[in-house]
Formats: sequence, C-alpha cells, structure tokens
Amino acid sequence: MRQRTSFRSVRALLLSLALACPLPLATLRAQGNVPPTYTDSQALRGRDWFESACLSCHPSAAMSSPDFKIRWGGLLARDLYEIISTTMPQLEPGSLSRRTYVDIIAYLMQLNGIPAGTTPLTADSASLVATRLHFGAPTSSPR
Ligand code: HEC
Repeated sequence: MRQRTSFRSVRALLLSLALACPLPLATLRAQGNVPPTYTDSQALRGRDWFESACLSCHPSAAMSSPDFKIRWGGLLARDLYEIISTTMPQLEPGSLSRRTYVDIIAYLMQLNGIPAGTTPLTADSASLVATRLHFGAPTSSPR
C-alpha cells in the first residue's frame, strides 16, 4: 500500500515537472553539461529488454514520437530513470534491475536519435545526472 502511494506520487511529481512550466525545465537543463553517453551494445541489450518487458503496452514508435520528444527532451536521464524504474512495467513496477533500466534508457536514447559513444551510461547518479536527453525536439530551443 505504502509502495503504491509512493509510486504514484513520484510519478505525479515527475510528470508535472516534465509537463509543466519552463522554470523547472530550465533549472534541470542547466545541470547536465556532459554530452549524453551510452554504448551500442548497451542499447542492444536495452532493446531486448524493452521488447520483452515494455513492447506489449508501448509500441517503440510511441517512445520516439514528437510527444515523447517534447515531454522528455532536455530533461536528464535521471528523470526518465526515476519514472521508469518506479512505475514500470506497469503491472510489476521496479521489478527489473538497475542495470536493466539503464540499458532500456540507452535504447530509448538511441531510438530518439542520440548517437552511441564509447562510455556506457551507468546507474550511478553522477552518470544519470550528467546525461541530458537532447532529442532535438522541433519546438525546444537548442540550448
Ligand atoms: C501493462 C502495460 C505496460 C507495460 C508492460 C509498461 N508500461 Fe509504461 N505505461 C503504461 C501506461 C498505462 C502508462 C501511462 C501511465 C500514466 O501516465 O498514467 C505508461 C507510461 C509510461 C511512460 C511515461 C509516459 C511517456 O510516454 O512519457 C514511460 C516512459 C513508460 N511507460 C515506459 C515504460 C517502459 C520502459 C516499460 C518497460 C520496462 C513499460 N513502460 C512497461 C503501461 C505499461
């Protein structure tokens, strides 16, 4: 019971941050100053996990749609990590390992056109906070 409540409130908080006003977005954008980084093999593993744990409810096209880019573009990998790892998969929230959630985020980055590099994205908060999701959403400003 307590867990359900906290999943809901974390999700509500993050969604309102993601959807709401420009001020928190600007603050969050200012934190990440390192180019986003993940590896190809990480994204491949993430794709496998996505296909087994997420695809039944989320077509991959929905995870790279203009709406998705507008909602998450410019935020930190940490924001996506927090919401996915505490609320998804919907019927078993938090059931995957930290590394698996991170690999799924790498896949989502790739799906949204962020090129792979040589340094993996890791579950430690420094890496997640340093990684900004630049999806090149048409309506967001470049910086
Ligand atoms: C049983 C169906 C189901 C499964 C499986 C599932 N989700 Fe979801 N997901 C949902 C629903 C329903 C919502 C909308 C919840 C809301 O906003 O109230 C959602 C919302 C989301 C969102 C936020 C909305 C957005 O598009 O920005 C993300 C991100 C997400 N899911 C990622 C995942 C990932 C990653 C997985 C696999 C680990 C996953 N989901 C597995 C049903 C599912």
